[in-house]
Amino acid sequence: REGKTLVVAIDGPSGSGKSSVSKAVAKRLGLGFLDTGAMYRALTWHCINGQISFANAAAVEHAARSLNIDLSLTPEKDFVKVNGINVTGPIREPDISKAVSAVATNLGARAELVRRQQVLIAESGNRMVVEGRDITTVVAPQAEVRLILTASEEARMRRRGLQLGGTLSAAALEEQVLARDLKDSAVVDFQQAADGVFTVDSSELDFEQTVDAVLNVVRRAVSK
Ligand code: DC
Repeated sequence: REGKTLVVAIDGPSGSGKSSVSKAVAKRLGLGFLDTGAMYRALTWHCINGQISFANAAAVEHAARSLNIDLSLTPEKDFVKVNGINVTGPIREPDISKAVSAVATNLGARAELVRRQQVLIAESGNRMVVEGRDITTVVAPQAEVRLILTASEEARMRRRGLQLGGTLSAAALEEQVLARDLKDSAVVDFQQAADGVFTVDSSELDFEQTVDAVLNVVRRAVSK
């Protein structure tokens, strides 16, 4: 598919391994990479930093429209800048993860970020792996390949626990994962595959196996 358009849309819950798997798939296919969650996180960081109240929907929407977000569009790099400030590290901090749903539930802000994402995909020459929650349904419903990467609650709790170095109790982990799912699904339904969307369940797969499973879906879809 050298030179041909190939958009791979990947949605799924947090803890499914979506980001690292999507990046690896983009590298293997020589495609660009867009982490749309980073844009919601960047806007959240900006609101907190600029003391914009999440309760003020119009102000959050205005911020979404006026903000300059410069982020990596390739899997080889990882950076996010907001109005020139490097926020790559800060947007992954727990205070942002906790607050981000306040921004993700703002429909005006969503419309603006979706519009920007569509511009970025077009500017890549429609050669990009795009990951998020509403990519298969809203951002890129025309993508050549659309898939949902899922994992059981147990698997996602296990991975989250490993990430945190085993410092949280099982009950606390469960609460974190389920609370996050509940908040996220208030925004978009990313757990159910829409028509024509493949599902890859990574519960019983390691990282390499998951990447291979996704690559197989891509190969099957483009060989049709
Ligand atoms: O994938 P992530 O954890 O970085 O996403 C951060 C938040 O942004 C998450 O709570 C859901 C939201 N999000 C969204 O609503 N739509 C997207 N396309 C991507 C992320």
